[in-house]
Amino acid sequence: MNQVTAVKLTGGDGDEAIAVRQIGPTFGAEITGMPIHGDVSPELLTQFIAALHRYRVLIVPGLDLDPGDLVAFSRRFGPLEIHARFQNTLPKHREVFCVGNVERDGMTASFSRGVEQWHADSSYRAKPSDASLFYAEIVPDEGGDTMFADATAAWRALDPETRRRIDGLQAVHSLETLRLWGERHNPDRKSDVSAQNAEFPPIRQPLVRAHPATGAKSLYLCPAVISHIEDLGPNESADLIETLIMHTTQARFVYNHRWRKGDLVMWDNSAVLHTATLFDHTRYQRLMYRTTIAGNAPALAD
Ligand code: OGA
Ligand code: MN
Repeated sequence: MNQVTAVKLTGGDGDEAIAVRQIGPTFGAEITGMPIHGDVSPELLTQFIAALHRYRVLIVPGLDLDPGDLVAFSRRFGPLEIHARFQNTLPKHREVFCVGNVERDGMTASFSRGVEQWHADSSYRAKPSDASLFYAEIVPDEGGDTMFADATAAWRALDPETRRRIDGLQAVHSLETLRLWGERHNPDRKSDVSAQNAEFPPIRQPLVRAHPATGAKSLYLCPAVISHIEDLGPNESADLIETLIMHTTQARFVYNHRWRKGDLVMWDNSAVLHTATLFDHTRYQRLMYRTTIAGNAPALAD
């Protein structure tokens, strides 16, 4: 840990290399030398993507980005999703989904009081997001960290018997399940999501998924979104998810990101889980800009 590695993977003739310093227990790395504004050579982009696949969460600190810069950089990785909740997006950049407790210029950031809702982004879509980028615009003085769990290392650490039992199971991901979870934690807010629910009906996703680029297996767990696991009874289903999420979110697989304004973090939704943490929303403001790279349908691991 903490050693600086020059990740040089392409056979190109340039000498450019990004520097990578691992900061989490099994994953997570801080990147320097990656131009975020303006042009990026294909070589550096290839190195950045290789680092994402290897470290799963990348942190680029100390930036000064506007939403347009974030969108332009994010597009280098593929087409971007437009979030179904339009009111949480920026009117001038619909690709930017806003998270926090700020309301301005025709945008209301998405704010949830639920705690530890581990998930990977847009698992309710037939083609969930490959990766997300999060830029810290306004950071509270305390709290509001984001935690990441290494769902890839967690899979590898399971005993062979459990792996055999769960590999091949299918979980049903449902926005209605998420809505009910949200209502329990935010009882004063009733949102009408019927249109969203109609656009995204419940969908099956593998419980153990293979990474689309590397093939690495990981646990695809979104406890607030999964209504049940197919072929299991409701109690067995709930128990299995609880056991697996407790396993995956042990300290040895978790990296807690304490935000500083100007941090850009990119995470691989096919390999890690993440969750927001609480902050005192009566004292502090928080505003994060998220872009979400569209993905491919997750493959069963076998
Ligand atoms: C998200 C998310 C975490 C946070 O917007 O996808 O999970 O810390 N946010 O706000
Ligand atoms: Mn998320």
